[in-house]
Amino acid sequence: MSSKEPTVKEKIERARKLREEAKLGGGKDRIDKQHEKGKLTARERIDLLLDAGSFVELDPFIVHQCTDFGMEKQKILGDGVVTGYGTIDGRLVYVFSQDFTVFGGSLGEMFAKKVCKVMDLAMKVGAPVIGLNDSGGARIQEGVASLAGYGDIFFRNVIASGVIPQISAIMGPCAGGAVYSPALTDFIVMVKGTSHMFITGPEVIKTVLGQEATFEELGGAMVHNTTSGVAHFVAKKEEDCMQIIKKLLSYLPQNNMEDPPIVDTGDDPNRTDEHLAEIIPDDPDKPYDVKDVITSVVDNGEFFEVQALWAPNIVIGFARLNGRSVGVVANQPKYYAGALDINSSVKAGRFVRFCDAFNIPIITFEDVPGFLPGIEQEHGGIIRHGSKLLYAYCEATVPKITVILRKAYGGAYDVMGSKHSRADINYAWPTAETAVMGPRGAINIIFRKEIAEAKDPEKKLQELIKEYREKFASPYIAAQKGYIDDVIDPAETRPKLISALEMLATKREARPPKKHANIPL
Ligand code: HXC
Repeated sequence: MSSKEPTVKEKIERARKLREEAKLGGGKDRIDKQHEKGKLTARERIDLLLDAGSFVELDPFIVHQCTDFGMEKQKILGDGVVTGYGTIDGRLVYVFSQDFTVFGGSLGEMFAKKVCKVMDLAMKVGAPVIGLNDSGGARIQEGVASLAGYGDIFFRNVIASGVIPQISAIMGPCAGGAVYSPALTDFIVMVKGTSHMFITGPEVIKTVLGQEATFEELGGAMVHNTTSGVAHFVAKKEEDCMQIIKKLLSYLPQNNMEDPPIVDTGDDPNRTDEHLAEIIPDDPDKPYDVKDVITSVVDNGEFFEVQALWAPNIVIGFARLNGRSVGVVANQPKYYAGALDINSSVKAGRFVRFCDAFNIPIITFEDVPGFLPGIEQEHGGIIRHGSKLLYAYCEATVPKITVILRKAYGGAYDVMGSKHSRADINYAWPTAETAVMGPRGAINIIFRKEIAEAKDPEKKLQELIKEYREKFASPYIAAQKGYIDDVIDPAETRPKLISALEMLATKREARPPKKHANIPL
């Protein structure tokens, strides 16, 4: 060995030094800048997300291969994304965390290869992928190679959909076509004040359309959680964002071949609640908060709501019943009387499909006066969008249990987990009403002539409404036909649901083989 060649000790020392250099990303100044913006670094975020000491990094020495625009002089180890695997509550996850301190977190060829590598591993092993996004988008200097990189990630997002859970946190900019990777994943969490998602930014919009909007107004966390429905959760701070991801994962299986974990929640499965009987007002047109029903029934009142701020006329989220994860879908009479509209159909339809893909039983609490009427809804395509929810319920083969709390009118009766969409157990409270439509509308159609010819049309109308109510405003006609399996005491809802869920634990139901179906998109 020549004396000029490095010794083993020197080689190991060099590896350690390079690793330390890689950890600094774009350098101290840019890290300080990141902190000044109220943002953590890519590595700090991973530390916050994963179990302490569990992170194993891959590809820390990757550098870009670009030689244009002087890039050959600016090679930064790791190339702007930290990737690897670790655990959350002891369960394996894969993670990629975009490093804004390196070329603004922009994505080039090698960056994309790193992301694809962890996605491929996650698919082989069957574990969730979590993407922490903070990026200026396609790396301009790398041109089509960076577009190709995005394309490779998009393809993997699609192939992984329904196989492993994919969760995206938006913790900085996420612009242009780059938004489509998070959009293809199952859930998006956005951090308030520091995250933005848009296809075309404020400058372009101003130039092309003359419209003015700030980053926040255009694509901030609140906009995507309240107006567009793009995001599923809003986090106050980055720490909060990580807690949301951890909580979400706790309800999910590792992949589509597993069941979700069963947790000892300590709540009595036979617990009844007399208070449930007091929730529904005597006046059928008065609203109430369906979340009071949900929290009374589920384990320890813990309901993890998804998309809480968008389309609030339907409530979706995760909970546990005797320790088993369930997806809850409930009409919310507090908004639009719980009527289904375009947004609520899309919101619940996607959620039902997620639950079905990942073996999570669906519990439906129904109180729906029908589809929301109006020109805006019709011209907006309520026919097309409403059918998504119907489609999702019919397609789902996980255990499906429905409780009609009050109204189950019209097409919405069929849509919301009815027996006819192959729900397994359908219960009704004694307050349930099933009919083609609400009393006033129905009477006006079938007795229009009689009312018009009556001496006192209003009195006649009221008489007919009373008669209609007596006939249809009860669960017993549906019970006589076997469309509902039993009329239950509201107080016993929890034990009844748990019993049904456990009875259905080994449910097997198949649909005919096909390439894929054609959901009305
Ligand atoms: C290369 C980029 C970059 C990019 C930012 N940087 N975006 N480098 N490619 N796309 C670099 C900057 O040059 C700068 O380098 C550093 O990152 C930080 O950027 P700043 O502009 O100083 O930061 P800030 O003021 O916080 O603004 C952040 C930003 C802005 C809003 C993200 O950088 C920006 O608008 N970037 C371009 C966004 C964009 O239009 N991307 C393309 C979208 S289209 P230095 O060396 O000065 O620190 C797209 C297509 C994907 O992504 C298609 C997929 C099919």
